[in-house]
Amino acid sequence: MRFTLAGIIPRQFVDELLTKVDVVEVINSRLPLKKKGHEYTACCPFHSEKTPSFSVSPSKQFYHCFGCGVNGSAISFLMEYEHYDFIEAVEQLASDIGLEVPREQGKLVDPKKIERQKDHYELLEAVAQFYQQHLQVSDIAKDYLQQRDLSSNVASHFGLGFIPEGWDLLSQRFVPEYTAQQLIDTGLLIEKDEGGAYDRFRDRIMFPIRDTRGRVIGFGGRVLGDGMPKYLNSPETEIFHKGMELYGLYEARKASRKLTRIIVVEGYMDVIALAQFDINNAVATLGTATTKDHIRQIFRTVDEVVFCFDGDRAGRDAAWKALKNVIPEVRDGKEIYFNFLPDGEDPDSQVRKIGKNLFNQSLSEASISLTDYLIQHLQENYNLSSREGSVRFIDEVIKLLAHLSEGLIKDQLLDEVSRLTSIKVDVIRKKMLTNDAPQVQNFSQQGSQAVRLSPVRYAASLLLHDTSLVAAVEDSEQISQTGIKGADFLATLIETIEENPNINGAGIVERWRGTAYEIACLDLMKWQPSFQDQTMLKNEFMGCLQNIIEKSRQQRLECLLQKARNESLDAMEKKDLLTLLSQ
Ligand code: GTP
Ligand code: MN
Repeated sequence: MRFTLAGIIPRQFVDELLTKVDVVEVINSRLPLKKKGHEYTACCPFHSEKTPSFSVSPSKQFYHCFGCGVNGSAISFLMEYEHYDFIEAVEQLASDIGLEVPREQGKLVDPKKIERQKDHYELLEAVAQFYQQHLQVSDIAKDYLQQRDLSSNVASHFGLGFIPEGWDLLSQRFVPEYTAQQLIDTGLLIEKDEGGAYDRFRDRIMFPIRDTRGRVIGFGGRVLGDGMPKYLNSPETEIFHKGMELYGLYEARKASRKLTRIIVVEGYMDVIALAQFDINNAVATLGTATTKDHIRQIFRTVDEVVFCFDGDRAGRDAAWKALKNVIPEVRDGKEIYFNFLPDGEDPDSQVRKIGKNLFNQSLSEASISLTDYLIQHLQENYNLSSREGSVRFIDEVIKLLAHLSEGLIKDQLLDEVSRLTSIKVDVIRKKMLTNDAPQVQNFSQQGSQAVRLSPVRYAASLLLHDTSLVAAVEDSEQISQTGIKGADFLATLIETIEENPNINGAGIVERWRGTAYEIACLDLMKWQPSFQDQTMLKNEFMGCLQNIIEKSRQQRLECLLQKARNESLDAMEKKDLLTLLSQ
């Protein structure tokens, strides 16, 4: 079943579809579900397990597995389970309930955007070829790669290229075939304030960055000598998101169908050097910290990841940062290790020094598990022999573990923390629950685990649970103006619901597929209020809004008072202050 007609499915149709199909039926016809309270459960089809942790919520029209973390709408389920693409999934659902999928070049969707993105991929691919051609004819560039002992085989496997010195080599070659604006939008040219544009990458070895489908989405460029900056990357664009992409993942998947472990290293050159030594499972972040999207991406491919970082300060900092970011993705059945190289070595230099076998052996034998690393790191930073040190240690652990899902790993960690501090596990667990913020319960109905959400996140999760709560919002503009973290997201969510009154949580997630907002929503959709009563939901929601506005009022007040003490206020500010004080 493949739909080939051109044309775009109106978003509103997708919203409507998701209010008409029942995710419970869709899943149940493929994977029998059992009713349990307000939800339905089954053993998760996306990872192997003996006791059910896959749960489907009819109210949200959403499924979630607290074992492996997969979640989504009826559409995502078909995409994951039946390996349909988005259009196929929509077609299937529509035909199940006897609806025809409309196709239009409507104004709600932006067909130009899709066209534009297609052009962007073509352009970037052509540019990658252009860089490769330059490498073939440049002696200095070839010498550089040779001096770094890079084989031409591996260089061409990764599509390495070169761009000589020059300010307009790209526009000379690609305009007017493509517009200058397209070269700017893809990050290839930098726009000048006074008009015009020039090449971003000049006199650099070029590394094409590919997405998991193998399409070039951006570039990294390295100077040949000691110039600064050593590496330059494409900026964020419509199709290039550094927090989502991993350098080398496409190549790793291509090299082997049966990947079991992925190694995360810091640099492009590390990925390539390892590949040259037939270690084809390394990936690198794009000069940023490891995000939870990175780890999700990895866990979709394998169950084991090893962070292999330099043993120096910077490497250790990067590792700790990675640990903090990946904690929400830790699951039983997924393994996360850290491997620290000797000081002064990176994977590139190390593999050249000790070779493939010893390198792999060290990964297997000298890596430390996430739990051991977490404890070790905290032990190094807090003095557990003092009462005060223990308490601060516990506070830090609690902050970290708040993001960790329930399971053996969490139990083990708590046991270990309890052993080290001589504080009972029950006491630590209780401390994890005592918070002033509103409490919401885990979607999986695991009973007493509650998680602290900020008022903004809590309000958003209530809205995703029941979009009709939007009626209680008086002024979404006021919320976005509070300047509180996440308020923009909440305001956008409110506006989206106001504009599409029939939409449900699943519809919103689909609408934002592939954007940062999708990820924020998926995260919030995991939480379920512990009560079902409509009045209570509304009260909680309104409480959050008041809380947000009050918080912003206080912030503004403090700021003005501070200013009044140090310097003088202008007339506007005085008026503001008086109004704030009288509220
Ligand atoms: P080589 O010196 O070529 O071996 O590179 P490396 O991979 O060993 O580089 P390093 O460990 O210094 O940096 C690791 C990664 O951080 C690189 O692959 C880049 O993604 C990023 N990076 C390093 N230097 C810079 C820089 O100056 N600017 C930016 N944006 N990123 C950098
Ligand atoms: Mn290096």
